Amino acid sequence: MAKIKGEISNNFCPQTLYLYGNYEEDGVTPHFGLFCWYGWCETGEGDGALSVMACIGGEKRTKDLIRKTGMFSANLVSEPLLPLADYYGCVNGRAVPDKMKRLPTVERGQALNVPTIAESPVSFELKVVKEEALTSPSNPEEACTLFLCKVENVTIDERLTDKSLPVIERMKLSQAVSTVAEETYVNFFGRELAKWGEPMGSL
Ligand SMILES: Cc1cc2nc3c(=O)[nH]c(=O)nc-3n(C[C@H](O)[C@H](O)[C@H](O)COP(=O)(O)O)c2cc1C
Repeated sequence: MAKIKGEISNNFCPQTLYLYGNYEEDGVTPHFGLFCWYGWCETGEGDGALSVMACIGGEKRTKDLIRKTGMFSANLVSEPLLPLADYYGCVNGRAVPDKMKRLPTVERGQALNVPTIAESPVSFELKVVKEEALTSPSNPEEACTLFLCKVENVTIDERLTDKSLPVIERMKLSQAVSTVAEETYVNFFGRELAKWGEPMGSL
């Protein structure tokens, strides 16, 4: 394999997609945004130490709500959810007050007061334990913020817990979606699904 110097990007490093959910100030109206800067780490010893690193660039409704409530849900995006997820990723919640005129089946979290998505194969209920500004506060509109979160609860499609099935078969059942390069959605089995901004057209 010959390697050449590349542009600085995360191309060909698959990123999994999640819908972050929160309730508006009224405590009942759900809000969702689409995100992929999401990773895992451990922040302590023993059970409950699994933590999530979620980065949000710029000021947006999702960030406003996470700061207000100190919590959010992260719902794995599956292929059937992709049109709605694409819509939540392409429509700015601050600029479009009726963004949530389109909704999945929303369920209240089991551990935290966050909206989770019934159609999502895996939903995490996350409590923010630390917020870190990663870029200059002199340009707050562009600032990237890291939220370090404790996983308070997970709900998962029960078929994915059936260990009599090989992991790869259960991965197929999850129908999880990734984005890899050039604003393209792909699945984990080599199929290109669409460009960003296209799936929402089918809603
Ligand atoms: C595929 C995809 C992935 C995205 N990932 C992120 C991300 O990780 N971080 C981020 O700040 N914005 C990300 N966005 C942009 C947000 O989804 C977008 O700003 C959206 O308007 C957020 O919803 P809100 O405005 O209602 O908060 C992504 C958009 C798309 C289409």
